Amino acid sequence: MEQIKSAIKWLLSIGPIRRVYNFVMRGLAKLGALNRITSTLYYIPSFLTFNREQFAVLRGRRAYYTNLKKTRDSRAELRRNVHRLEKALLMRPRRDIFAKDYIGETVEFYLRAVNEVSSSVDESELVWAQNVLSEYFKAISIPDKVVDKARADFETTTFSPYEVDKVPYERGVPKTPISYDDFLALSKQRRSVRWFLQKKVPRKLVDQALLIARQAPSACNRLPYEYKIFDDPKLVQKVASLPFGSAGYRQNIPMIAVIVGKLDSYFSPRDRHGIYIDASLSAMSFMFALETLGLASSVINWPDFEPLERKMQKTLGLKTEDRPVMLIAIGYSDPKGKVAYSQKKDLKVLRSYNEIKND
Ligand SMILES: Cc1cc2nc3c(=O)[nH]c(=O)nc-3n(C[C@H](O)[C@H](O)[C@H](O)COP(=O)(O)O)c2cc1C
Repeated sequence: MEQIKSAIKWLLSIGPIRRVYNFVMRGLAKLGALNRITSTLYYIPSFLTFNREQFAVLRGRRAYYTNLKKTRDSRAELRRNVHRLEKALLMRPRRDIFAKDYIGETVEFYLRAVNEVSSSVDESELVWAQNVLSEYFKAISIPDKVVDKARADFETTTFSPYEVDKVPYERGVPKTPISYDDFLALSKQRRSVRWFLQKKVPRKLVDQALLIARQAPSACNRLPYEYKIFDDPKLVQKVASLPFGSAGYRQNIPMIAVIVGKLDSYFSPRDRHGIYIDASLSAMSFMFALETLGLASSVINWPDFEPLERKMQKTLGLKTEDRPVMLIAIGYSDPKGKVAYSQKKDLKVLRSYNEIKND
């Protein structure tokens, strides 16, 4: 296989062959991109390109439904519905009665969660759900069959947490002690660092950074991802050798994180991009937080490429519906190691205001 790859690389390095290859590829892309039917035909020979993702999304959907009856540490369906309740509770003006179409289901999710608690369960999730449900039933004072039934069901549980403040609150006028200039300096300090000191990375610092990473926004507050972190040198090398993008510097990476998106967080394929968006927002906060703690990082690309997917799945023991989103190398930056200048784009090409282009 390696020999075939090298032979192809060599052939494509020959100018005329490369030009013919580009010409054919461009022509095929032009034809395929004519409309949606031609694009379907275009992808038939390379159906694996998207089929792995389709399979994973469908597996995620299947797992979402089968998980409903399973004991789990965290429950996407409960998180989503509690989030919907919070949003309804903070609406202005707030309606006298709301969430009738999903309150019964939410209480059902909640009761299952509190009745099937495992030792590793995220209790803060249950407290949040309990607090918001209590607030909801307090807010609805007019009699209603659906709500009254849900309330009666809700009151059957003996789970009664102490905290009662995990509900919508007035934000007031927040004042961060971090100035724009401080934040600009931090954003310029953060660079993709590929050369690290051979110094152990304290897990305590990484956990501190993760406390910031989890504050990132996520669709319906699901946080549909997991940070799988490795600091055992052998495992670090095993994981770091999987992506192409770590070539040349992987041997000096002291710690590596794989952010894995959980496609079983969704019942609908329309949400399938959520894992990438939410994980990326969290990753950015994570990397800024690492910088503030004296650590450096670099994202390593994880392409949607069948052979690599299979290797990663096997190495980490992932399910089909678990999708690696990116890897992050972490460590103390070697002051003598160079970083790329990486010119950013000018705002004039990066943004527009009120511009609508009609084809
Ligand atoms: C999604 C993503 C994938 C990346 N993949 C790689 C990679 O595989 N290998 C690598 O050395 N750097 C990788 N990078 C780092 C980029 O090259 C780097 O962010 C970019 O050049 C800008 O430089 P800066 O991060 O220092 O500002 C990646 C960055 C992102 C966001």
